Amino acid sequence: MNYILALDQGTTSSRAILFTRDGRVHAQAQHEFEQIYPKSGWVEHDPYAILTSQLTAAVEVLGKSRIRPRDVAAMGITNQRETTIVWNRHTGKPVYNAIVWQDRRTAEFCSQLAAQGASEMVRQRTGLLIDSYFSGTKIRWILDHVEGAREQAERGELAFGTVDSWLIWNLTSGKQHVTDRTNASRTLLYNIVEDRWDAELLRLLDIPESMMPRVIWSSEQVGAVSTTLGLGEIEIAGIAGDQQSALFGQLCLNPGDAKNTYGTGCFLLENIGTDFALSQKQLVTTLTCSLERKLTYAYEGSIFIGGAVVQWLRDNLGLIRHSSDIEALAQTVESSEDLVLVPAFVGLGAPHWDPHAAGLLIGLRRNTQPGHIARAALESIAFQVADVLEAMNQDTSTACKELRVDGGASANNLLMQFQADLLGIPVVRPEVVETTALGAAYLAGLASGFWSSPEEIWKLRDAGHRFEPQLGTQDARARRERWQNAVERSKRWDG
Ligand code: G3P
Repeated sequence: MNYILALDQGTTSSRAILFTRDGRVHAQAQHEFEQIYPKSGWVEHDPYAILTSQLTAAVEVLGKSRIRPRDVAAMGITNQRETTIVWNRHTGKPVYNAIVWQDRRTAEFCSQLAAQGASEMVRQRTGLLIDSYFSGTKIRWILDHVEGAREQAERGELAFGTVDSWLIWNLTSGKQHVTDRTNASRTLLYNIVEDRWDAELLRLLDIPESMMPRVIWSSEQVGAVSTTLGLGEIEIAGIAGDQQSALFGQLCLNPGDAKNTYGTGCFLLENIGTDFALSQKQLVTTLTCSLERKLTYAYEGSIFIGGAVVQWLRDNLGLIRHSSDIEALAQTVESSEDLVLVPAFVGLGAPHWDPHAAGLLIGLRRNTQPGHIARAALESIAFQVADVLEAMNQDTSTACKELRVDGGASANNLLMQFQADLLGIPVVRPEVVETTALGAAYLAGLASGFWSSPEEIWKLRDAGHRFEPQLGTQDARARRERWQNAVERSKRWDG
């Protein structure tokens, strides 16, 4: 058995990647699926579109590389986190669409909970802030708004899951209703100090505990895929939320190690070790993958619009045809001049947490060209990351010395150079930027004995490409101040 199959179920597409024993990508397949926007601020997915696109990608990657399921040692699953699916245990049918992590429909309810004084209790137990980003209030919304859902839930007939649970339930024909600790820690319902679903939080949100999946470790054998799916009986042996999976894939296994993933959003995580701590700077504390089966924590700064700003230029403004065209368009001008784009399209995440912020483009002049807008869009990604890293450096006593990066937009050299310039530290991009999937592959490979130890994996790590800072500190500071000025103007736009 020479391969590990990683399923990477993301916000806009489902991917399947086969990794070899030396940690290289052997083959991959990807399928996009529909984003559903029923109302302003609402984002949904059809759970079957998630499932079908993921299964199709998995079957396709094996088929096109002529690899039989029996050549695959194990499967690891990594997924968009927080996205909430509720289904009927008897029929397996979802009672509502998946409510996606970006969806803000429960923002008002979250403000009420905060006004009732629940924030501190929630933070002490979950490490999270009360925000519509996390699953808890989305589950409650489904129970309150879907006819008959609450009664069914109270009779024990409904199951809740993040996308990992939904996939595994279907991959095992309803035999396994599980999630791992990294995904559980994003629900607002998991006590990450006491390592259990928290009865008081479940009561606060009026969610029956019977809906919750069994929680397992990220690197643990779960069960075999059902034979009917065209994937043989591959053993599922790894699960992790995509950002924690990327942290693991980057081998950020020691306190102080940090990575940023440039996906639909940007997610900066720093390993803080086995002692639970809370941020003073509006970052959240979350569980990471632990091979020793000991609770291990990270600080996380979640930025809601990262690479998605490029899609917005492509799909909404029509400025480019393909996402990869952005670099060339940005290079048609020498600088963004003083144009700033704040992509607060779904409010602002860390470190601002303002669900009422709206996007803003400021500094428009008679000579503004599409190239300036493209550059401002790319720069907005790096500015947001710089704000989060600054908050993180203030929280942890040691300043981060280099930032490991991955994800689709990390392929953009202009962006990576600007990121290093703004941060004043090197930005290191590995050769295999599929770190999210690689993390899931490592988790599954270690649980199944495909790789014998983390030391074996360390040896596979490539040196990657380093971007050294080139901009002076004064200039970087001036650019960031202008950006922060624009961010302040974007806040509280609709509330
Ligand atoms: O928390 C949301 C995150 O897990 C989504 O990741 O890669 O689908 O943008 P991605």
